[in-house]
Amino acid sequence: MSSTDSSQRVLSGMRPTGKLHLGHYHGVLKNWINLQNQHECYFFVADWHALTTHYDDPRILEKNVYDMVIDWLAVGVDPQKAAMFIQSQIPEHAELHLLLSMITPLGWLERVPSFKDQQDKIKDKDLQTYGFLGYPLLQSADILMYKAGAVPVGADQVAHVEITREIARRFNHMFGKEPDFEERAQTVIRKMSKQASKQYKSLCKAYQEQGSQEALESGRELLSAQQNLSTSDRERLQGYLEGSGKIILVEPQALLTPASKMPGLDGQKMSKSYNNTIALREPIDEISKKISKMPTDPARVRLTDPGEPKNCPVWQLHEVYSDAATQQWAEQGCRSAGIGCLECKRPVIDAVVAELEPIQVRASEYEKNPDAVKAVIAAGNDAARATAAQTMDDVRQAMGLKYR
Ligand code: TRP
Ligand code: SF4
Repeated sequence: MSSTDSSQRVLSGMRPTGKLHLGHYHGVLKNWINLQNQHECYFFVADWHALTTHYDDPRILEKNVYDMVIDWLAVGVDPQKAAMFIQSQIPEHAELHLLLSMITPLGWLERVPSFKDQQDKIKDKDLQTYGFLGYPLLQSADILMYKAGAVPVGADQVAHVEITREIARRFNHMFGKEPDFEERAQTVIRKMSKQASKQYKSLCKAYQEQGSQEALESGRELLSAQQNLSTSDRERLQGYLEGSGKIILVEPQALLTPASKMPGLDGQKMSKSYNNTIALREPIDEISKKISKMPTDPARVRLTDPGEPKNCPVWQLHEVYSDAATQQWAEQGCRSAGIGCLECKRPVIDAVVAELEPIQVRASEYEKNPDAVKAVIAAGNDAARATAAQTMDDVRQAMGLKYR
């Protein structure tokens, strides 16, 4: 978790929608678990984002927040490797959101596709609000606060990372020019070894005069290897290299989460709004019942009617859970009417249960010990707060707010 190069830092958030299901696990969470082994990671509960659309039911927020954190922990998001925190417990997010709002053109927000889409789709709520318009900007503040280089998100969120990049660029352009930038940069260059500073200067020249991308890359690498420079000095030289001012806010990259192949109980994508989910904490006998009741190939009315796996949602579960031999057994048995549908579902039920049982054991330990969950969040909040305080220092300074 301790790297000084923020381009490797990963940050992602999830709105607290309550208990998570297998779709979340196979889509987002397994990806997080991989990332936590390779990067410094921050994962947080976007509870303010939940309020932008669900401001009218405040009573369920707390339960949803902790249910979600318990599920993260139960599937193996590891507090030793990733900081887990709650957005509203780091009020700096609100401050950064406010400050960024000063320089964010309304048109940028109005043009974000999710703004109109959601307003059209969600009819039971009034989303003609200031908070809802600002949804992507709040997300930008979340991301820019941690100078995260990579943001794992689903396809629907890529536009939000894109607007974040635009806002970072605009901010750096407006506020990154310190009056004595040139002088300061020169002072920092002198702090490097003779060899490094000579190399840096020639890379600057190669990039600025010939636009060499290679020089830009090498320059960045050179800077991140300069252990004796403070983060702030490194950002100065990074900006100097690129011919801009000091880079205060870092432009993130979207890390597109591969679309989850997890089908729901009806063969559509698993989603709460389709009512076709298996929750991670679904009681074992419910799992059994739900899968047993799944619809199958409509052509297989009787046991003696042959079926076609391609027309059956159960087959999609075999594709996720079964090995080659079991898949072959199911395909052949289906097409030859050699097995019954309930028989065909058996290995799927067993596999889902085997996957969820250990997760449920861990979840129930956390359910019994809410203090342990709170301690994880408290530690995550502390880590987040330390980084947030630094960023806000730079931002306030850049915007002329460091007076008393
Ligand atoms: N908007 C995201 C979603 O609905 C959640 C989110 C909030 C987020 N802030 C973020 C995701 C910052 C990544 C980074 O899924
Ligand atoms: Fe579906 Fe299996 Fe029944 Fe075939 S045998 S219709 S694949 S459940």
